[in-house]
Amino acid sequence: MILVTGGAGFIGSNFVLDWLAQHDEPVINLDKLTYAGNLSNLESIQQDGRHTFVHGDIGDRSLVSSLLEKHKIRAIVHFAAESHVDRSILGPGEFITTNVNGTFSLLEAARAYWSALPDKEKADFRFLHVSTDEVYGSLGPNDAPFSETTPYAPNSPYSASKAAADHLVRAYHHTYGLPTLTTNCSNNYGPYHFPEKLIPLMIANALGGKPLPIYGDGQNVRDWLYVGDHCAAIRRVLESGTTGETYNIGGWNEKTNLEVVHTLCDILDQLAPKTGSYRDQITYVKDRPGHDRRYAIDARKVERELGWKPAETFDTGIRKTVQWYLDHQEWVRGVLSGDYLKWVEKNYGQREQGVAA
Ligand code: NAD
Ligand code: DAU
Repeated sequence: MILVTGGAGFIGSNFVLDWLAQHDEPVINLDKLTYAGNLSNLESIQQDGRHTFVHGDIGDRSLVSSLLEKHKIRAIVHFAAESHVDRSILGPGEFITTNVNGTFSLLEAARAYWSALPDKEKADFRFLHVSTDEVYGSLGPNDAPFSETTPYAPNSPYSASKAAADHLVRAYHHTYGLPTLTTNCSNNYGPYHFPEKLIPLMIANALGGKPLPIYGDGQNVRDWLYVGDHCAAIRRVLESGTTGETYNIGGWNEKTNLEVVHTLCDILDQLAPKTGSYRDQITYVKDRPGHDRRYAIDARKVERELGWKPAETFDTGIRKTVQWYLDHQEWVRGVLSGDYLKWVEKNYGQREQGVAA
């Protein structure tokens, strides 16, 4: 049995759904259900005996220890985190609590449990830590993409908290021999993506007739990967990755934010036509403080050593994603509730208009 943390969030829920579609091995899903956790993502497996949801905090050491013991967990796949850069700028505390202290507590529980396992199970145990490319900082336009040996240079409270967690995971392998694996992935998109992040926010705002707020000049670059491809890469790393190693995961899909938003508008113009183009809703707003200019991932190690490659191109993945949001308007409506509206006011209410590129 595996323990997944944060399995009610965007990537975690996609991972749990994909896992159960491909494996018979049961999953214990530990999630605190913060604003980003959503049990309706897991509705389709509500009656599936292979999935057990546990409402709790990764920082609750006694709860985690009892789950590890009771279910004889053979691997932990650790997604749980505070994940939104803008929230980390407006309130970094929770990021330290969950991403740093929470990961530390989880590592301590895992170490105690793992140390007492019989030799064979000890050798087979895995702690897979899901991290981000943001730990490497920001690239210039002509810099080579981030590789596994790029020095860490996090620039936001979010990326700094993830970098701290990555260092702890590394240290637990180096010092105690805990069989860890770390993945550093680029920007994901796909079903169940919370509409505070660029792609789902733009789709929801476009359909709601609201402005499409582009930070700064819209020329910041992100490297996009369809969430199902990220989940497949995590499964490969869990299965065959070398312990103590890190693996960069990305889709070789660098796009400026403006290109992404134009693409979304053009697809919506085809799939949900209205009078005029959705592009007319684009507005430029004040930039994110410390906004990283460019991310790009060199994914050759995971491709070469583990034979993983993304199945989706940006064109196929983004079209699927827009269609998913059109088909799941009720899910979107459920998410756009009171707390979400407070966030929109906090993040966008104070932003002045920016200047068009
Ligand atoms: P998300 O914000 O959608 O989901 C996070 C989940 O963690 C939520 O279900 C939340 O309830 C849960 N959670 C938060 N604090 C918790 C705690 N203390 N205990 C238990 N559960 C807790 O995040 P996501 O976008 O799905 O990202 C998942 C992981 O992948 C994160 O670690 C993130 O850093 C990493 N990552 C994300 C991306 C991306 O593009 N979204 C890319 C690379 C890496
Ligand atoms: O690179 C991986 C990271 O990708 C993950 O570790 C993070 O958890 C995930 O949130 C994501 O971080 P970003 O900051 O890149 O994602 P976000 O969707 O918030 O923003 C993407 C780009 O779009 C970024 O350059 C900021 C810009 N943006 C974002 C929002 C929400 C806008 O221009 N307008 C917006 O309203």
